[in-house]
Formats: sequence, C-alpha cells, structure tokens
Amino acid sequence: MDRKKVIAKLNEMLEHEMAAIVTYLHHSFVVPGIHRQPVVDLMQLRAKESMAHATLLGNKIMALGGHPSVRVSEVFEPGPQQTTREMLEEELEAERKTLEEYKGLLRMVKDDVPLEFMVRGILLEEQGHVESLEIMLRGEGREE
Ligand SMILES: [Fe+2]
Ligand SMILES: [Fe+2]
Repeated sequence: MDRKKVIAKLNEMLEHEMAAIVTYLHHSFVVPGIHRQPVVDLMQLRAKESMAHATLLGNKIMALGGHPSVRVSEVFEPGPQQTTREMLEEELEAERKTLEEYKGLLRMVKDDVPLEFMVRGILLEEQGHVESLEIMLRGEGREE
C-alpha cells in the first residue's frame, strides 16, 4: 500500500464528506412544502452519517501519520428556488460520485485488512444512500 497516496485519497474523501454535511444540513433548513418534515429528518440523519464517515477518515489519516484537511469540496448552492426533487437529484448525483470514489479507495487499501474493512463499511452505507434516493425519486412523479 502506498501510504502517501492513501492519505491523499482519504483527505479527498474527508473533504467530500465535509461537503455532504454542509449540503445535507442546508437542505434540511430549506426543504419546502407541506410534506417537508420527513425529508428534513432524513437530511439531518444523512448529515450525521456524513459526520460519522468524516470522523472515521480523520482519525485514520492521523493514525497513518498524515494531517487531516479542513477544506470542504465545492458545494452547489442554486438559491431559494430549488425544489425538493432538485435537491434529491443533486444529492443522488453526489452520492453516486462518492460511491465510485470509495470504490477507488478500496482498490488502494487491499493489503491493509482493517482499513479495507472500514472502507467496505462506508461503501455499504453509501450504497444505501444511493438506493434510498433512487427509490424516493421513483415515487415522486406518482404523488404530484
Ligand atoms: Fe459518507
Ligand atoms: Fe452518503
């Protein structure tokens, strides 16, 4: 395992998770409509899950002798006109990208079994995030 490259990739994922925290928390504030509350609750849960991922990454970066980034990946903010559906679509796109990036990280850590286990655990949750958004968006058309 190339420790330097792994630390760099872990930091990149940390910055993505920080952006996910910011995005989900922001969406939990601004989601409109009379059916907003379950979406608000879900967005708050996703923000907390992203913080849990960020925590795993930051601690692992330290354990490997690196220094955790305080940067946040670019956050998309189109303003107050964004609909709930557009928010969910934006989240789905970000979750799919994150999932692919974690798969890339997994290939880099094959010979560190505990780290590989950690990445697999995060991957499982990211897959769940993608699937739940796909199902929500599938139902959206029928309700309107
Ligand atoms: Fe995450
Ligand atoms: Fe996620």
